[in-house]
Amino acid sequence: MAPTLLSSPLQGFTDFRFRNAFHHYFGGIDTFYAPYIRLQGKLVIKNSYQIDLDPENNTTLEVIPQVMTNDPDEFLFVVKYVQSLGYKELNWNLGCPYPMVTKSGMGSGLICQPAKIDDVLHKAHNESDIVVSMKMRMGYDNPEEILATFPILDKYPLRNIAIHARIGKQLYKGPVDLDAFEKCLTSTKHKLYYNGDITSVSAFKAIEKRFPTIDHFMIGRGLITDPFLPNMIKNNTEEYPKNRWEIFSEFHDTIYQQYDEYLSGPTPIKMKMQGFWQYFAETTSNPHKTYKAIKKAANPQKYRQAVNDILRTEMNVEY
Ligand SMILES: Cc1cc2nc3c(=O)[nH]c(=O)nc-3n(C[C@H](O)[C@H](O)[C@H](O)COP(=O)(O)O)c2cc1C
Repeated sequence: MAPTLLSSPLQGFTDFRFRNAFHHYFGGIDTFYAPYIRLQGKLVIKNSYQIDLDPENNTTLEVIPQVMTNDPDEFLFVVKYVQSLGYKELNWNLGCPYPMVTKSGMGSGLICQPAKIDDVLHKAHNESDIVVSMKMRMGYDNPEEILATFPILDKYPLRNIAIHARIGKQLYKGPVDLDAFEKCLTSTKHKLYYNGDITSVSAFKAIEKRFPTIDHFMIGRGLITDPFLPNMIKNNTEEYPKNRWEIFSEFHDTIYQQYDEYLSGPTPIKMKMQGFWQYFAETTSNPHKTYKAIKKAANPQKYRQAVNDILRTEMNVEY
């Protein structure tokens, strides 16, 4: 059976514009997780989150909203908000590794605090009928933290726990810890999803082979770096479509146009697209040169020229 593939959220990248264009041009993803909602000390949902989750902006694909908090009241407030939009599930982020977040006891900084996790889950399950799922690392300081937290998680009817097989203090560096992930498999009653470094069909196959009981896989950065990847995994092929760069070009133009309309002025759109190209460049024949050309493009005309040059080069490369 084909595996279920989920788009792991990337704040700043995988908003509704990206998700819709991705789904239209590449496909292969069954469910998209939206980047987290974070409240700023007040029970108010920022406008950008509202736009991102607005059902009218998410008509063609399945989206699950996500929240990052350590406060039961905030969690419940977000539950009510997403339910008012018609969502049935809320994903809880216990993975974010950034010190600003972890020092205030959120993201992966919360994994070692089972009592606090219990408080949030208790209130959510006692006072609402939301379906909760988790996205976690295995700890902040060490990968045993999650093992001590599983007994609390096992008390609740969570839909699943997606585990990014790193610890918080690694940030995004160093290898995933597959031995520690394996320990998780036998330490909880919950269904686990695998996440981390699925960057190619062969990387996917190696994970699938090592963990035959896992049938849900989340892909984050790999999906931006190589948007064809999910579909290639689904079709069990390493071959790109013949018109690979034509498809990519249309996708690029679609997101460029939408971000250009949304962001005002040449600098924000330049920064936005530069962020994407940091990933896109990796699958071009000369990543360094590609990214340098994008960075050098000082205005929208030069950017357009740089993209045209890059795509023309890639269209002429024999893969
Ligand atoms: C720029 C960036 C933004 C991210 N934003 C989120 C987020 O909003 N919510 C979340 O759960 N994970 C977030 N992540 C983590 C990814 O979803 C994913 O778990 C991680 O990158 C490992 O998977 P990958 O190797 O497939 O990218 C972010 C990662 C990056 C690099």
